[in-house]
Amino acid sequence: MTEAGSASGAGTIPPGLGMDADNLHRLGQTPVFDPVRVEEVINRYRGKRWVLIPLLQEIQEVCGYIPPALIPRIAEAVGMFPVQVQGVISFYSQLHTEPRGKKVVTVCRGTACHVRGGRSILKVVKEHLGIEEGETTPDLEYTLETVACIGVCALAPNMMVGRTTYGSLNPSKVARILGRPKAASGGD
Ligand code: FES
Repeated sequence: MTEAGSASGAGTIPPGLGMDADNLHRLGQTPVFDPVRVEEVINRYRGKRWVLIPLLQEIQEVCGYIPPALIPRIAEAVGMFPVQVQGVISFYSQLHTEPRGKKVVTVCRGTACHVRGGRSILKVVKEHLGIEEGETTPDLEYTLETVACIGVCALAPNMMVGRTTYGSLNPSKVARILGRPKAASGGD
């Protein structure tokens, strides 16, 4: 078996992936990334099998997700089989192999938020963004997720946009935070 060594592109970024992510975000296309930064990250962790998860997290930070085309490169760098790296990615729900929005909107589904109207907050967010949970807007601006508790129950109902937490939400506050509705943005 030579699967781990079959990364014939070892040392190179797969073709077509080295473009400016922000520009492509603007164009509404699949995000790509800075190949120099990706190389720098992979080389920094090279040969250290035990740091696979930090390596994957950093790749995700640079690219916005873990491009499947990079998995053989990552596997080769840490001396693993691509299928093993894929297995680790599948195990951790915070690692993603699909493009995600520039901002992740996380709505709390916990009890404290639920009893204070969290369900209607989620409904408003869905309507505003025009997507369901787990989905990303076509312009790659937002990904919508839910969690069991954000950790600030006293301010319920809560949501996060990126790393910023917003509490004591109501529909008009959600609209102010998220700006122009995505669902209507193509129409006017
Ligand atoms: S239940 Fe929503 S923040 Fe804890």
